[in-house]
Amino acid sequence: MAIWILPAVALVAALLYWLLIITEGTYLGTRAVVVMYDWTARRYNRIKRLHSVYEVYFLGVPMLEALAAVPDARVLDVATGTGRLPAALVTGDGFPGQIVGVDHSRPMLVEAAGALDPGLSQVAWVQGDAHALMFADAVFDGVACLEALEFMRDPRAVVREMIRVLKPGGIMLVSNRIGWESWFFPGRYCRRGAMERLLRRDGMEAIDTHLWQTYYDLIWCAKPRAGIPEDLRGADEA
Ligand SMILES: C[S@@+](CC[C@H](N)C(=O)[O-])C[C@H]1O[C@@H](n2cnc3c(N)ncnc32)[C@H](O)[C@@H]1O
Repeated sequence: MAIWILPAVALVAALLYWLLIITEGTYLGTRAVVVMYDWTARRYNRIKRLHSVYEVYFLGVPMLEALAAVPDARVLDVATGTGRLPAALVTGDGFPGQIVGVDHSRPMLVEAAGALDPGLSQVAWVQGDAHALMFADAVFDGVACLEALEFMRDPRAVVREMIRVLKPGGIMLVSNRIGWESWFFPGRYCRRGAMERLLRRDGMEAIDTHLWQTYYDLIWCAKPRAGIPEDLRGADEA
């Protein structure tokens, strides 16, 4: 056997492992990512070991508090997956508003819907692409995207879509990948601090970063009450 065959096989195996397992199809395009989630939807909550007490404590309660002054608040969860944020909101102290969970993967949405009380009318599930949200400008009081931006073809475009559909004065919550694993996502994540700078450049304010999990920060911010200045809308990274 030629001496180069073993290293070549190892290299291809490592490349496939990176493409399909570590980055979950991210560098093969949106369709590949969605197929990966279609396949794993039924096992997702078991793999992630999501625990409702933590989800309510870290996500549900802070979002409720941030929106406490807004009657009948509307919240959008982008790339909602199995409905982690919607579940945390309705499980907590009783969120009185409306929640929309958007995801590209239908099987993920089926899991999300199946996990909640079927009689619950305050949550709606919509299949769609985070890069082109099917909502008018400024219709949500809160917008979130958790553990998903690094899997997007263009994370910055998704953030801008989220800002577009957020009302002036609305709250935005995004996660940012950190730690050594983030190095496997070149071009798809921002270092600590860089994400805050990008959000500020997009016109957001009151930006506040917290460590959330080993591999993620949570970043809270707000859209100015006066709206995003015209010259910052869609401004390119300097
Ligand atoms: C790691 S899961 C996160 C799900 C959920 N936010 C959570 O924290 O458990 C990533 C989700 O992003 C979704 N997704 C990936 N690309 C997407 C896109 N372009 N538009 C909408 N959803 C997308 C996947 O289908 C998957 O449900």
